[in-house]
Amino acid sequence: MVILGIESSCDDTAAAVIKDRTLLSSVITNQDVHKQYGGVVPELASRAHQQNIIPVVDVALKNAGVRAEEVHAIAFTRGPGLLGSLLVGTSFAKGFALARNIPLIEVNHLQAHILVHFIQEIGQETKAPPFPFLCLLVSGGHTQLVRVDNYLTMKILGKTIDDAAGEAFDKSAKLLHLPYPGGPHIDKLALKGNPVRFEFNKPRIPGLDYSFSGLKTSFLYFLRDNLQADPDFVENNKADLAASLQRTIVEILVSKLKRAANETGIKDIALAGCVSANSGLRDTIILEGKKRGWNIYIPKFSYTTDNAAMIAITGSFKYMESNFSPMNIIPKARMDF
Ligand code: KG4
Ligand code: ZN
Repeated sequence: MVILGIESSCDDTAAAVIKDRTLLSSVITNQDVHKQYGGVVPELASRAHQQNIIPVVDVALKNAGVRAEEVHAIAFTRGPGLLGSLLVGTSFAKGFALARNIPLIEVNHLQAHILVHFIQEIGQETKAPPFPFLCLLVSGGHTQLVRVDNYLTMKILGKTIDDAAGEAFDKSAKLLHLPYPGGPHIDKLALKGNPVRFEFNKPRIPGLDYSFSGLKTSFLYFLRDNLQADPDFVENNKADLAASLQRTIVEILVSKLKRAANETGIKDIALAGCVSANSGLRDTIILEGKKRGWNIYIPKFSYTTDNAAMIAITGSFKYMESNFSPMNIIPKARMDF
């Protein structure tokens, strides 16, 4: 069973080929055009997807050693994401399915982030979590605690009521004059800083939901007050500010994860999404895991960012259930599962 996966939800155009569960190729092009604007510009993203999609698929097939005629189904990201960007991938997938007369499979981008844990690579051992497991899914647009009962049966136990964890990193990084996206820059700076030097407000949200907008405001006011006394406050304390901010974000994320683990009794804990690349988050989860007897599953760095391997693996699970999509399917900017 050979599945071609297409991802175009934000600013990366990606294609991947999976045979059964084994990854044969994965190609991603990043769009540099957004850097100068300090964020993704949706219209520019759509145009870049248009330019990239055919060459990216071409290279993915070539790298996999697979001809277009050998693909059994095409899986694509239906949402959530930027509508114009999603449209490019959706239209391409429809055209490919129609031309080759093969099934079309819609994939939920968030579900796909979680299923990276089941991708196998040639010559490498995969340590996949057993069901049910808990997954902390953290990305630029989403922060969710998910109970995963099976490949395609998942329940969101909690999610952010405002900003995502990635946004908290990015918006705070902007205040520290770091380039976009700021998360990786904060991570790097934090390695050199004192994480307990500064305290910022943490939210008090009941249940398993998250909130990050208060932290952003607390950080903003803290900088404003200190800049009045010392105009070089940010420059002189950048590493400590980054480390203290990162510790706070990680503490917020992990406190609800602990609560979810206690409430469900589940000890298999996975991370997924772009922010799961964060070293502070990885180290803290590993430490908590040792203390609490959790089995921890952390994705490879290449699977934390948006990629099409995750779309292809999700497509392969749907293919096995003959869970196909009609030709009149339309992408969706917002989507839960
Ligand atoms: O590319 P992106 O928008 O994709 C998805 O949302 O799926 O996500 C990138 C997000 C940005 O918010 C970025 O700052 C964050 O992930 N990020 C990180 C790290 N690497 C990426 N945040 C903290 N630490 C990192 N190492
Ligand atoms: Zn994503």
